[in-house]
Amino acid sequence: MTRHFLRDDDLTPAEQREVLTLALAMRHDRFMHRPFEGPQAVAVIFDKHSTRTRVSFSAGIAELGGYPLVIDAASSQMGRGESISDTAKVLERMVSAVVWRTFGHDRIEEMAAHSSVPVVNALTDSFHPCQILADFAAIADERGGVGALSGLDFAYIGDGANNMAQSYLLGGATAGMHVRIGTPEGYLPDAEVIARATEIAAQTGGSITITHEHDEAVHAADVIATDTWVSMGDEGEKTAREQAFLAFQVNDTSLQLAAPGAQVIHCLPAYRGKEISASAIDGDQSIVWLEAEYRLHAQKALLTWLVEQ
Ligand code: CP
Ligand code: NVA
Repeated sequence: MTRHFLRDDDLTPAEQREVLTLALAMRHDRFMHRPFEGPQAVAVIFDKHSTRTRVSFSAGIAELGGYPLVIDAASSQMGRGESISDTAKVLERMVSAVVWRTFGHDRIEEMAAHSSVPVVNALTDSFHPCQILADFAAIADERGGVGALSGLDFAYIGDGANNMAQSYLLGGATAGMHVRIGTPEGYLPDAEVIARATEIAAQTGGSITITHEHDEAVHAADVIATDTWVSMGDEGEKTAREQAFLAFQVNDTSLQLAAPGAQVIHCLPAYRGKEISASAIDGDQSIVWLEAEYRLHAQKALLTWLVEQ
């Protein structure tokens, strides 16, 4: 059966470990797998802006022996209203996988429901699971391997309702982490996501905590993550959000409260002086550039794994 990767819990804990282990190996041997040799095409479709996702999938698919067919959705017939299901039925006859960045998560679910080739979520309003694979691979690489992830105290500070927070909940629970979300009132993750993450954590030995206190979230954390306060689509709320999140900046105070040597991550793009101070993102404890590099290795590992199922 075709496997898709739409949310972080589409991989079991064992499968997530397999993909992450492959990601670390592929960093050291970039051409060890060539599943798209031919070259076979992979469609990479964008409804929203992107730098890292566009470049890492394009370079990664080429390194896997394939042809990255990058499509700006607005200039395709989808932009004029062709249905998702009709698009899926055309794409599956010509490409070996479909990678899509879009708005509502229901849109990518519909694409997957009509596709006989793997569909990969390159970010929706609800989840950004490829980013979480990259983040965890980078953390693991710095800590001596994928086995180091289970049991880590992982704090995410910022918009608890956005795609990154929700993906950290599901992905972190899958990895057996203790995930703590520090977010203001009114910015809670979906109840379904919290419930699912709690259920997974009960099986993996992890845990889920949601708090409205920055200090409680970062206390003794091994990893501190944050993300923009204004996600794509939220631009109309910029002023209100910048007020609401003022006490939720990752900065020197966060690092003083965290475990010694805690790692700082940010999916990027970052807004220094808003969600993160320059001292935190540009300081010694930041691994954001390795994290960005791992988009390439983690997605290559994921695509290799998906097409081999
Ligand atoms: N982190 C991330 O997904 O970056 P882009 O929006 O540049 O792709
Ligand atoms: N939460 C951000 C992530 C960007 C990579 C957004 O959706 O805009």
